[in-house]
Amino acid sequence: MSVKNTLASFAVALTVLGGIGTAGAAQKTGDYGDKAHVERQSWSFSGLLGSYDKAQLKRGFQVYNEVCTACHGMNLLSWRNLMEEGGPEFTKAELEAIIADKEVPADPNDEGLTHGDDGSRLMRKAFLTDRILAPYANDKAAMAANGGALPPDLSVMAKARGIPHVAGNAGPSVWYKAPFVGLMEYGSWIAGTLRDIGTQYQEAGADYIYALMVSYPEETPAGADVGDRSFNYVFPGNAISMGAPIADEAVEYADGTKPTLDQHARDIAALMMWAAEPHLNARKSLGLKVLIYLIILSGLMYAVKRTIWAGVKH
Ligand code: HEC
Repeated sequence: MSVKNTLASFAVALTVLGGIGTAGAAQKTGDYGDKAHVERQSWSFSGLLGSYDKAQLKRGFQVYNEVCTACHGMNLLSWRNLMEEGGPEFTKAELEAIIADKEVPADPNDEGLTHGDDGSRLMRKAFLTDRILAPYANDKAAMAANGGALPPDLSVMAKARGIPHVAGNAGPSVWYKAPFVGLMEYGSWIAGTLRDIGTQYQEAGADYIYALMVSYPEETPAGADVGDRSFNYVFPGNAISMGAPIADEAVEYADGTKPTLDQHARDIAALMMWAAEPHLNARKSLGLKVLIYLIILSGLMYAVKRTIWAGVKH
């Protein structure tokens, strides 16, 4: 079989499989249409030149500290990380005020004990070097307090979640159209991937977290049965064991920003992106310098090559 024929049959196979896949997917998704679709947001830290907005990270941390910390930890971070360059950059004094009332499990005391006479865990005041822990003694206690669901650690949540490239909500209604739709989907997937490489799209996690926060309807849509869980449009399966954690005016911002649900959701998503990738600012600014250096070096190498081989006939 010639290369051309092989390629042609490969393309046909892809098209047919894509069609079957799309037809199948059409039955699963699409029930809630646009509402279940995670929109891409514009972030200060997106693109080649993006960087975190310090004020936004501070607000995001305020939301975390006043709301989410009731159930979630960020145990890959220490309090002192919040002072570092490229993050919220709290001062030492600000942070010490923030952790003034925080406690962590104490090391064994002089008698080697970690628990008091009544069986409760001995605690000590938190230091800046302590991790940002969840409020529960262990996973079982966390689950018991949350209807059997474990509130996940939020340190790298922004990297652990994402959104699919293709929305895939509009499947073909007739079987013979499926292969063509399949072909279109492949085309748009490839185009989308190339566009994401070009624009350096890496904010899918933040987009998802923002969407998760704002996708709790006031009332569960008719026909949806979530039991004693909450309904959420973008959470896979729609039934989530976390009730809407924030609403308008959940937090009164220290910097006077208007406390809307939308604002809270953006700020907490930005904070989580920073928690998951604290060195983004440094990475992007170094990356740009490296690219410029490589472009200049390529030009130089070309000039050198021309000079060295100038006398040789070819
Ligand atoms: C009352 C406890 C509670 C509070 C407060 C809370 N959560 Fe949760 N959260 C949970 C539980 C429980 C889950 C697990 C839900 C599940 O798996 O169904 C969860 C899951 C999550 C998830 C993961 C969703 C996924 O895709 O798996 C994220 C992200 C999240 N919470 C963010 C937040 C943020 C941000 C805040 C603060 C604005 C917050 N949570 C406040 C209990 C809470």
